[in-house]
Amino acid sequence: MKKKYGLLLAMIVALFMLVVPMSTQHAQAATDDSLEKIQKKGVLVMGTSPDYPPYEFQATVNGKSTVVGMDVKIGKKVAKDLGVKLKIKSMSFDSLLVALQTGKVDMIISGMNPTPARRKNVDFTHTYYQGGYDIVINKTDTAKYKNKDSFSGGTLGAQTGTTQYNAAKKQTKNTSVKGMTSQSDLILALQSHKLDGVAMEKPSAEAYVSNNKQLAMIPSDFNMSSSATSSAIAFRKGSTSLVNKVNVTVDQIKKDKLVKKDYLPAAGKYLKTNTVNTSMGHYWKAFLTGIEYTLIITVCSVFFGFIIGIILALARMAKGGVLKTALRWLATAYVEFIRGTPMMVQVMFVYFGLGLFVNLPALTSGIIAISLNSGAYVAEYIRGGINSVDDGQTEAARSLGMSNGKTMRYVVLPQALKNIWPSLGNEFITLIKDSSIVSIIGVTELIYQSNIVRSDTYRGVAPIVVIMVLYFILTFTASRILNYFERKMQHD
Ligand code: ARG
Repeated sequence: MKKKYGLLLAMIVALFMLVVPMSTQHAQAATDDSLEKIQKKGVLVMGTSPDYPPYEFQATVNGKSTVVGMDVKIGKKVAKDLGVKLKIKSMSFDSLLVALQTGKVDMIISGMNPTPARRKNVDFTHTYYQGGYDIVINKTDTAKYKNKDSFSGGTLGAQTGTTQYNAAKKQTKNTSVKGMTSQSDLILALQSHKLDGVAMEKPSAEAYVSNNKQLAMIPSDFNMSSSATSSAIAFRKGSTSLVNKVNVTVDQIKKDKLVKKDYLPAAGKYLKTNTVNTSMGHYWKAFLTGIEYTLIITVCSVFFGFIIGIILALARMAKGGVLKTALRWLATAYVEFIRGTPMMVQVMFVYFGLGLFVNLPALTSGIIAISLNSGAYVAEYIRGGINSVDDGQTEAARSLGMSNGKTMRYVVLPQALKNIWPSLGNEFITLIKDSSIVSIIGVTELIYQSNIVRSDTYRGVAPIVVIMVLYFILTFTASRILNYFERKMQHD
């Protein structure tokens, strides 16, 4: 028994020793052909968290939800000056730095402050904008709150991974500081009085307040260095040639005062027109895309998960020589490891971790991670199903002269499948719901779409209700269809 766990542990440790050094090597290997590489590739991928108007936010442009804002304008100018195309990748603010380091994006423009801590891991251009911090509150509370010190005994919210979150934590007393990944969620929490205030950069505070009559803003009076109040573009560490080149653009933008004269007013216009139609029906296209991706992920993952499951189940049941024992150990270790770690972590591992070696798109990564995960569970169902087939069946088949493989394929597996059909059906339904986890790596499935609609319309509850109903319709239909086949199988 002890030996068994020892082996399992050794395998897990070996896996980590393999992966961790490789990932650091990757960071160091970044020699400076950064500029050349981008120009050869012809596209510059900009990572951003579009929940921070006027820096970046979602707006419906020509009927399509699009990322707009002053940072997008800056990104476009940077790409143009480099002679390449700009591609925007949206993700939560706290994923941006990892995404840059693992090559998922080429640069970050997201109102990011070039703080000394961040400078240790990435390179920044010159700053393009000076912000400063305010706190957004409910208008009804204007008399109650003056600055950061008024929140004693109350709750202050800030986006996780941001400078303002750290400041709120360090520079307030007796205040509970709550972090959320999305700025739009923070505003919704404020409006439903789960929070008393939300700290953010002044332009963003102004944008939210001018768009929402129930909100007001007060100064934060955070004590901050200038590197924590200005914004710059981040590139991977060691990209000196690229940073130098982009600095020319940034200096030009500053010299011509483009942000004030052009980029901010343009963003303001989008903010005004954006909230004209916030009915859920208006966003049917977004929800439809969400359903489409949810189904693609689920169907693919169930299919590959089933194949992986069969292989694993057979491996786990292998008996005999050294090779078969090793196979059995490996399959057992795999199943235990997958069942012992959260699917969310597995999704991030495939996307960011394996992404170091092969650049997998988010959708592919999501399908791989969920198939690998589902395979471990399905293997257990199949193993149970195979065990439930009477030994007499195998013996009869063998005595008729069928080979081991044929017996499995034509006699045992078909009967096993009938037994495990309900469990497989359950797995399918579970995956419809659990596939929502891939929204964290930016796969545009239902949850992701509802987040977009939420930040697009500034409406909190309606999109949640819509996707709840949609998920139910999906799972209910699926379970009806599965039941139908189950009944059919029982008949013959
Ligand atoms: N200025 C802050 C920081 O660098 C927050 C920026 C948040 N940006 C966003 N797109 N949500 O930490």
